[in-house]
Amino acid sequence: MGSALSPAGARTGPIPLDLEEAILRLKAERDALILAHYYQESEVQDLADFVGDSLELARRGKESPKPVIAFCGVHFMAETAKILSPEKTVVVPDLEAGCSLADGCPAPLFAEWLKRYPGHTVVSYINCSAGVKALSDVIVTSSSAEVILRQIPDPVVFAPDRNLAAWLEKRLQRTFVVWPGTCVVHETFSERRILELLAAHPGARLIAHPECDEVVLRHASFVGSTSALLKHVVTSDHPAFVVATEEGILHQMKRAAPGKELIAAPPEDGCSCNTCPHMKRNTLEKLYLALRDLSPALEVPDALRLRAKRSIDRMLEMTAGLSLTPVGGRS
Ligand code: 13P
Ligand code: SF4
Repeated sequence: MGSALSPAGARTGPIPLDLEEAILRLKAERDALILAHYYQESEVQDLADFVGDSLELARRGKESPKPVIAFCGVHFMAETAKILSPEKTVVVPDLEAGCSLADGCPAPLFAEWLKRYPGHTVVSYINCSAGVKALSDVIVTSSSAEVILRQIPDPVVFAPDRNLAAWLEKRLQRTFVVWPGTCVVHETFSERRILELLAAHPGARLIAHPECDEVVLRHASFVGSTSALLKHVVTSDHPAFVVATEEGILHQMKRAAPGKELIAAPPEDGCSCNTCPHMKRNTLEKLYLALRDLSPALEVPDALRLRAKRSIDRMLEMTAGLSLTPVGGRS
């Protein structure tokens, strides 16, 4: 054990020098499943049982027989796991790991806004709070939104990502009533700098997450969820890609497609905003503490949980045929 105390503050105590070994030992003792999103630090991804996109992580958490889930992602992802598995202890390394989309759509405001659109089906992106999920008819993720919306007639309210909404409207040739939220990471990619990069690497193609602005998406040869982008890099014949999503995904891309040239898309000059500050709050040290203390644990009051679960269950039912992408993680 080392003597240093955690800068995480209140959760203190001796921190083992070999954190990886200590986490794996605690994982076994707790009989825990470690889930990680692709935007986590590479050392966190490497310790996870499964690394995936939002839909895959929701499914894995629900299907796991383990009594404890250590969810290395942001709050809404861990909260979704708890909503689906109330009997499990779901811990997250840092409870403050939020999301600009979820934070920009508070449930009371959303409830007021929805009153203007009676008779609409409320379709919400999974990047939202349990309160917003409880006000929604169905939840979607970036990998399931198109499949689900094809099954839902107009009129539709779509929240809270206006860029994903615009991309879906274009794909489906439809118009939705849209809550005007954005992701702080994906909205800041610079079209100018991406075009400069593509000009400097004429063999490279742009691939992008649908949370990016339309000015970026229109230059992309492929648009998809994190898992879909990863799969595309592996299966495409193309040798080089500029990747417009959070840079954490490059870790799995490099592992899964070692021969390919992968370039992180640049944000505006001088900022490192292609890194999600929320996702990066989780560290190995905090994961160790979460498994050691079984804290911070997600709690969702039962009445809210049951209302939120309906819309998530509907997503899972409507996407039962979509296959998981078996890339990344330890299993
Ligand atoms: P995915 O579902 O594509 O992993 O997206 C989650 C997310 O937060 C993207 O910013
Ligand atoms: Fe939220 Fe954007 Fe971070 Fe994804 S990348 S978790 S949408 S802030």
